Amino acid sequence: MSHEVVLIPGDGIGPEITTAMRRVLAAAGVDIAWREVQAGAGVIEQYGMPLPTHVLDAIREVGVAIKGPVTTPVGTGFRSINVALRQEFDLYACVRPCVSMPGDGSRYNDVDLVIIRENTEDLYAGIEFGVGDFGHRELRELVAENCATAIPEDAAISLKPISNMGSERIVRYAFEYARSHGRKKVTAVHKANIMKATDGLFLAAARGVASRYPDIAFEDKIVDATCMGLVMHPEDFDVLVLPNLYGDIVSDLAAGLVGGLGMAPGANIGADCAIFEPTHGSAPDIAGRDVANPTAEILSACMLLDYLGEDEAAARIRAAVRATLAAGQTVTGDVKRALTGSTEGAVGTQAFADAVIAAL
Ligand code: NAI
Repeated sequence: MSHEVVLIPGDGIGPEITTAMRRVLAAAGVDIAWREVQAGAGVIEQYGMPLPTHVLDAIREVGVAIKGPVTTPVGTGFRSINVALRQEFDLYACVRPCVSMPGDGSRYNDVDLVIIRENTEDLYAGIEFGVGDFGHRELRELVAENCATAIPEDAAISLKPISNMGSERIVRYAFEYARSHGRKKVTAVHKANIMKATDGLFLAAARGVASRYPDIAFEDKIVDATCMGLVMHPEDFDVLVLPNLYGDIVSDLAAGLVGGLGMAPGANIGADCAIFEPTHGSAPDIAGRDVANPTAEILSACMLLDYLGEDEAAARIRAAVRATLAAGQTVTGDVKRALTGSTEGAVGTQAFADAVIAAL
């Protein structure tokens, strides 16, 4: 059966890894009609914005997309188009499985956990007041009148909205995911000892939802202790559910447990739409050199295939990736370095894809 899928190659290493991913899917015999559209800094001159309307229209029409990473300027400039896409389509659940594979170069060989990150609220809401911005003074005055502490005049302010609806639905998603994937435990991660209003609400919502899933174990953990626990005993974790910012940070930490960012796939799921993308960014430090590891993009495509009901093709591609890594000969520099301490003998992005194709 043919599927239409929107493809946003992205920038930095995006075009290289999405090319590798498309080649693997084609070799696996999956019939996909790609609708390729561009977003990011590179299209501003042509369309006057980094996320043109026709890109949003294409995703709305097709309902499913896969992307490479897109660069966001740091500190100044346009807001992240990745965050904008998640908010525009209410892709509230970010699902990031972190599973050890033989030959992934990690210090661990028994990691099997899933990060479920809330994707639309929290400090990512984009409600920010720079010093002197419209509303900055009024907000400071409101805080001075109503709170025990005052906000300094020269302080920029970012707001952290966490709603009951947003918290309940992401925790429900985590429990439903646990049930449908044969997982045993959900850990809600928070900092409710300090942020009693926002994280306290998230925790209360999590406890409420958990009480309706007696078949799945539940625990809650403070985010700093969670980080240490993940590094020392990753086998203690199963499904983790987190508000947006902690989810972002802990995702990269968890990627480091399974060989690094080049290995960690992801999906952004909403009620009517899904966008698949790796956890990592555009890696400008290695872009354009055919050295990036395309595994995370290829495994994100496997999550896309699961979503499309192409389970057999997804399983075959995952097995080919595992076999290629396990053989240990044809691997990219990130994995080679983790295995041997040097990138000597590593292969390029497309050569790795060739090896996966040969193992299909
Ligand atoms: P990054 O994830 O791009 O890179 C961090 C480190 O991991 C770098 O050393 C990079 O070379 C390495 N790395 C990442 N992916 C790799 C791969 N596939 N193979 C081998 N090595 C890999 O994070 P960074 O540098 O903080 O962000 C760069 C840009 O990406 C920023 O503009 C950021 O906003 C954007 N970004 C975009 C995301 C998206 O499109 N969903 C997600 C995260 C960041």
